[in-house]
This record gives sequence, C-alpha cells and structure tokens, in this order.
Amino acid sequence: MIDRKRLQERIEEELKRFEETHPRSKALFERAKANFIDGVPMNWMVKWAGSFPIFVESGEGAHFTDVDGHRYIDFCLGDTGSMTGHAPKGAVPAIKDRIDRGVTFMLPTEDAIWVGEELNRRFGLPYWQVAISATDANRFALRLARHITKRQYVLVFNYCYHGTVDEAFATAQEGHTICREGNIGPQVDPAQTTKVVEFNDIEALEKALAPGDVAAVLAEPVMTNIGIIHPEPGFLDALRELTRQTGTLLIYDETHTMSAGPGGYTGAYGLTPDMLTVGKAIGGGIPTAVYGFSEAVAERIRGTIDVEGADVGGIGGTLAGNALSMAAMRATLENVLTQEAYERNIALAERFSEGVESVIQERGLPWIVKRLGCRTEYWFRESPPKNGGEAAAAVDYELDRYMHLYALNHGILMTPFHNMALISSQTTVEDIDYHTKVFRDSVDALLGTRV
Ligand SMILES: Cc1ncc(COP(=O)(O)O)c(C=O)c1O
Repeated sequence: MIDRKRLQERIEEELKRFEETHPRSKALFERAKANFIDGVPMNWMVKWAGSFPIFVESGEGAHFTDVDGHRYIDFCLGDTGSMTGHAPKGAVPAIKDRIDRGVTFMLPTEDAIWVGEELNRRFGLPYWQVAISATDANRFALRLARHITKRQYVLVFNYCYHGTVDEAFATAQEGHTICREGNIGPQVDPAQTTKVVEFNDIEALEKALAPGDVAAVLAEPVMTNIGIIHPEPGFLDALRELTRQTGTLLIYDETHTMSAGPGGYTGAYGLTPDMLTVGKAIGGGIPTAVYGFSEAVAERIRGTIDVEGADVGGIGGTLAGNALSMAAMRATLENVLTQEAYERNIALAERFSEGVESVIQERGLPWIVKRLGCRTEYWFRESPPKNGGEAAAAVDYELDRYMHLYALNHGILMTPFHNMALISSQTTVEDIDYHTKVFRDSVDALLGTRV
C-alpha cells in the first residue's frame, strides 16, 4: 500500500523543510559536536527524526518552545518522564521550596513517610526503597532477588525494555538467549544470566521456570517498549501462579504502565507482585524511582544485609532518596498524578485514539491503534501483535521517521522510537484534534490523496 519511492521523496522533502526552519538548533548542534560525541549529551538524542535534535528553550504543561521560536504540542513528554506535563503547577512550589532548603544530605526527610504510605496505598506493597532512576530500581530489585533466592537467572520477555539493565538486553532466537542487537559491551554473555520467552506464551514460561533456577521474572504487565502489547486473558494469572509454584519472584516494572492509573496496572487490575519498580513520572520530572516489596520478601531481606557492608553491597547510591526527590515525589503524587487527573487524561487519550482510527478507516489503511490508559499508539499492521517478536517484525523505521518528521514540521512532538503519544493534565481537546488533522494530512501527503 505504501509506495516506498514516494515515501523516500516525502522524507527528503520534510528533512529539507526541517533544516530550513531550525537554523538555531542546527548551529547549536554543530557547536555541541566539539565536546559531545555525536553532538548530544546523551546518545539516544541522535535518534530523533530530523537530521539533528531540536534544542529546547522552555516548556510549560503539554507544550514547549525551541530555540528557533517554534511552539510544539508535546505528546512525547520526555518519554514519560514528564507525563505530569512540564513544570507541573501542583509540584513546582514544593520542589522550589526544597531547593531553597537543601537538596541532598544522605539523611532521610519527613516527606519519605508520606511517600511510603502513599506507595503502599497505590500499589499494595508495604515496603519501599528509593533509587535515582527506574534503571537503578530494576537493577537493585534484581540484585535483591538473586541475593535472597540464591538463583542465577532472570527471566524477561522478548523485546522488553527495562532501562540499561544488563540482564534485559537479551532476545530469544530459536529457544536460545542471545545478545539483543545493538547491545554495547555486555558484561557477560546474557545466556549466562537470562532466560527469554515470548510474552503471552504460558507453555514456554512454564518450561523456563520449571528447573527452579530463575531468581525473578522482570516484566511490564503490559509491554510498552516495542509497542503496546496487552496480556491475553489468563496470562498474568498464569504468570503469578507459575512464579509462586517455582519459588520465583515476580517483579512488575510499572515505569510506563503507570499510564493505566494512579497505581499503575497493578493498582488498576489488583495484581499481586512480590516486588514492583517505578520511575520517570513519579517525581514530576525530577530524577527519582522506587522499588517495593511484599511483607514476605521484606522478611527474607531483613537481617541479610549487615550495617558494615551497607554501602558496598551494590544497591542504593549517594544521591538516592535525596530530599529533593522525596519532596518531588510527594508533591507529584499528592497534587498531580491524582485519580481525577487520570480520569481526564484517559478520556483525552480515547479521543486521540478515535481520531487516528477515523483517519485509518477513511483512508482504508491496514493500521491499528492501541491504548493503555493515557498512553496511545498507532501501528503499521492489521492486527495487534501477541508478543515482542511479532511486534519487532512490524517495525517500519522509514515510515516511522516520515510520520514523526511530518508531525514535527507541523508543531507536534511524538515519542521517538515508536508512534506513541502521552496525554498530560495540560493537554487540551484542541491539541488532540489538531493532531488528528496533522495525522490525516501526513497520510494524504504520503498516499498522494492530497499533496
Ligand atoms: C519499562 C521501563 N522501565 C525502566 C526504564 C528505565 O528508565 P530510566 O531510563 O529513566 O532509568 C524504562 C525506560 O524507558 C522503561 O520503559
């Protein structure tokens, strides 16, 4: 259905337009190359659809402005880090106040008490620890899982993403664990640390857990990083049952599935993991993350970490749990990521999905839309993928690039790496409807329906 030659021409056209309209970003990018590899402070920033990243001036709510003076609707929202909207009004005063009174002490502040109680209420786990990033929360959870089970392996689902966690950069190939393509400098061959099975494959999961050598399953309850893939009916029940039967700990990573509701997918569907991790949005954009444990897990940890070795065990970190992170989490949970906010944002995400679906239907495209709470995404395939392997096979890098570029040139930022949009409390109905219009125009320009 897509004429690849025409697609290439459209990309060239949009790239030209992008370069012409972003001269300041281009100049800054050229200067940055002198001191940053590839001209960016973090290597993923090269993966935007333009020939260079746009440099940001400022952001407020669901919008931001770049150094060339263009204003964008931000559906990327820091790939979830700013799901609260930029500079969220409900959290900024408390964050500023904390900065004025000191940021980091390596001592607890009273905000920790409120945060612990609130996390318990939302996720149903009584005990918590704090990290600086979701990656760290996952790493620490895995360390603790191996520590208390004395088992070697971690099980993850094919094409998962859990941050820069070594064990998770593995994929399955004909039943074997191999390095995920692009894995830079792996510490060890992941086959030594990791078992990988496809999401929604109960039989494969049962087989992998049967020997009793897996410390933990680390999973998103709904996969989000190779596109949104929902669990089939009964899959999460089987996962819980099989992990219990085999003495394997079940860790849910709610960093992205936090879009499902105030307590993530766990809270929304009454799941009962042994451990849970969540980062990104939870601090309203301030780096912080948490990992929680059930009573039974806490019981097994207690007494196994001696005071003398507390700072060299490989969990924690100097800045983790700092006063600023705690104040930011408290304010974000108390005033921003509230039940009312979710209700509003989820309704808008439905409107976004319906808008895109209407264009897909009008134009007879073999595409679909998937949604998880206030996170929504369109796919270039006819039916929802069942697992990561199927999803990875449907990735169309060129088509993604075109759609992103077109949107960018029309004042819309989508999440890089896939066609995902997040809705914040400041996203408006007008923003959503404008996206539908731009999406329709981009499709028409591509199909030649209208140029
Ligand atoms: C599900 C999930 N867990 C963890 C992470 C890691 O987050 P961070 O890069 O902030 O450490 C990500 C990042 O995209 C993620 O999608």
